[in-house]
Amino acid sequence: MDAQLIQLVNTLQDTFSNLGGELDMPQIVVVGSQSAGKSSVLETIVGRDFLPRGSGIVTRRPLILQLVHTPVPETPGPHSYTEWGQFLHIDKKFTDFDEIRKEIEQETLRVAGQNKGISKLPINLRIHSPNVLDLTLVDLPGLTKIPVGDQPSDIEKQIRNLVQEYIMKENCVILSVSAANVDLANSESLKLARQVDPQGRRTIGVLTKLDLMDAGTNAMDILTGRVYPLKLGFIGVVNRSQQDINSSKSMKDALESEEEFFRSHPSYRSIAHKNGTRYLSKTLNQVLMNHIRDKLPDMKARLNTLMGQTQQELDSFGDTAVFGDENSQGALILRLMTQFARDFISSIEGTSLEIS
Ligand code: GDP
Ligand code: NA
Ligand code: MG
Repeated sequence: MDAQLIQLVNTLQDTFSNLGGELDMPQIVVVGSQSAGKSSVLETIVGRDFLPRGSGIVTRRPLILQLVHTPVPETPGPHSYTEWGQFLHIDKKFTDFDEIRKEIEQETLRVAGQNKGISKLPINLRIHSPNVLDLTLVDLPGLTKIPVGDQPSDIEKQIRNLVQEYIMKENCVILSVSAANVDLANSESLKLARQVDPQGRRTIGVLTKLDLMDAGTNAMDILTGRVYPLKLGFIGVVNRSQQDINSSKSMKDALESEEEFFRSHPSYRSIAHKNGTRYLSKTLNQVLMNHIRDKLPDMKARLNTLMGQTQQELDSFGDTAVFGDENSQGALILRLMTQFARDFISSIEGTSLEIS
């Protein structure tokens, strides 16, 4: 994730929590048919391998993934880690991301059973890292039509309701994932997204599996917005194939092959700069920045009120405020904090929130 954005959000969040407010960031929810590549997309956004992926129904419980920005300790001890995972259901620090994946698999089996059943009971996982910003991502079971295994006959409706529960919140960015080798007219995720976001303000279309399209066909019409208009557009990606997963292809290598795919493709070459996982992350950052910008007037109003109150408090101490006195020290801290917040607001108002 973009380092500049991470820093901005952290400073804002710290400032506002010090002043008794909060900066609520949107939840990012992936929606799409089974095996469209939802878990793969989410993983590349986080930049770590830790999600179970594969053909058929793999994600069978919602995964609520809270990213927690955790700076590297100034004096790291022998047992301190910079990145780790922590589940809600088990009191253990996971520093090995392969073990995180295994734990998700086991926890899925424990609650949703052996035989393809799904459960709406979420798995809660927090990932602490210096490279993320405080953000919640949600991975969901895929939309499906025909029940298999232990799935109930109304599985389609159940998953649809589950998805709706998450995406109806106004404060949610929908990553609507469709596979390029399936007709977009059948995309259930776009239909669902349109119900809750008719103007397409908070839906990003993600088109996966561009590498698997039939020879002689391409997705130019979709990627250039001629088939299905979305304000935030459609972004094509190439995730790791099942074979890449089996051979443990690294995320770095996968990103490089993806870039090479777009650069060397006879049609996509011309739109390569607006596609791929890196561009998707950038777009997501942009959406988050716009969200923050929308929240600024409200924050500023709240801040002004707080500053007014603090000023009154300061005035009431008058000349008797002596450094060292508990009250005056509190007042001094408050004053420094509000000064900081004021400078901060004016500094971000002066900057363009565009991320290049
Ligand atoms: P989900 O069910 O929507 O979460 O999909 P997964 O992320 O589990 O992916 C399903 C399967 O499709 C896995 O075997 C992935 O390796 C494969 N896959 C996902 N995206 C792509 C892609 O862009 N290209 C190729 N070739 N395979 C992909
Ligand atoms: Na799958
Ligand atoms: Mg999945």
